[in-house]
Amino acid sequence: MDIAILGASGYGGGELLRLLAGHPRLRSVAGASRQHVGKDFGAVHPHLRGLVRGAFVETPDWRALAQCERPVLFAALPHGEFAKQLPTLEAAWQRVDLAERLTVIDLSGDFRLADAAAFRQSYGGEHPCPERLPDFVYGLSEWRREALRGARRIANPGCFATALQLGLLPLARLGPHSPPWVSITAVTGSSGSGASPSDTTHHPTRANDLRAYKVLAHQHEGEVRRTLDEQRAGIDFAFVPQSAPLVRGIFASIAFPAPGLERATLRAAFEHAYGDARFVRLVDGTPRVAAVAGSNFADIAVEARAGSACVLVAIDNLVKGMAGQAIQNLNLALGWEEDLGLRIAGVFP
Ligand SMILES: NC(=O)c1ccc[n+]([C@@H]2O[C@H](COP(=O)([O-])OP(=O)(O)OC[C@H]3O[C@@H](n4cnc5c(N)ncnc54)[C@H](OP(=O)(O)O)[C@@H]3O)[C@@H](O)[C@H]2O)c1
Repeated sequence: MDIAILGASGYGGGELLRLLAGHPRLRSVAGASRQHVGKDFGAVHPHLRGLVRGAFVETPDWRALAQCERPVLFAALPHGEFAKQLPTLEAAWQRVDLAERLTVIDLSGDFRLADAAAFRQSYGGEHPCPERLPDFVYGLSEWRREALRGARRIANPGCFATALQLGLLPLARLGPHSPPWVSITAVTGSSGSGASPSDTTHHPTRANDLRAYKVLAHQHEGEVRRTLDEQRAGIDFAFVPQSAPLVRGIFASIAFPAPGLERATLRAAFEHAYGDARFVRLVDGTPRVAAVAGSNFADIAVEARAGSACVLVAIDNLVKGMAGQAIQNLNLALGWEEDLGLRIAGVFP
């Protein structure tokens, strides 16, 4: 396969380059950037020096990509940007006979929702090309394997949304113990906000702080609710996101009243859901962000005691919450082993 990346100079672009360097089916990669054209990848991503060779281009050479057997595009652009560009890009791909053959995976939130109204509700504003929303398959890998097979347009889930859905969906299989409502808190590291510095990511204001933000109003709620509806889960939730003094990682706690629910029953629901899942590990005690950082694993623990229950989920926002899951989805779309290029442990400690 030959790959192009839009937004290759960002954190997601860097993670794609890092992980794809270990993908056995990769032949070539073109990384686009506005600010760094002509610079080596290593000039922006210092950890890739000597490992990933190549330089940033202004625009991928679509004609060259069209000559490839397995052309792939990852879009890792800021919110709204890929949707704005897509109609023009599609026209350029049509001209070189690439549009139908190109596997496109968008890492932004632009194509995760069902229609213009849902997009407006989650993100505010109008979607630039709502007629294209139905073309995209929502890529929550473990729950969408069938839909992803052969897909040519994939919307990769959000990082919080990935952690929340992996923890919530098995709860729908608890029969009489399935909770109608759960309380969720989840903390995220600063890399979740991307490479451009902002007040909320600046080290002196972040390093020793812990705070909530977008309380009961995070934009990922929409995609989580969409999946819960599609799965007829019958679960509502209140979600309080928090900003933690971490660089990488998400840690989600999902709690609910559960009279009569045994831990073994809860654990069995998760074993049933993820028994064959290469990247979901059920752990005892607590998951740890440090144990998944740098890897595509989601570590999940469950507990039930004295009439209450909880599910704890840890992922790396940049890997399972972003670039790693995008590669997992690529593997699924192209019919390859799901873990190609992703057989790596985290970097504990
Ligand atoms: N960070 C996470 O944990 C995470 C997780 C899941 C999903 N996402 C989503 O994935 C997408 C990429 O996230 P990221 O964290 O990689 O972002 P990022 O670090 O800010 O990178 C985005 C890149 O896009 C390029 N770009 C192209 N057009 C741009 C424009 N009009 N304005 C600003 N930059 C532009 C920039 O590079 P040049 O200036 O060199 O062109 C920039 O490096 C976002 O939509 C984000 O919501 C992020």
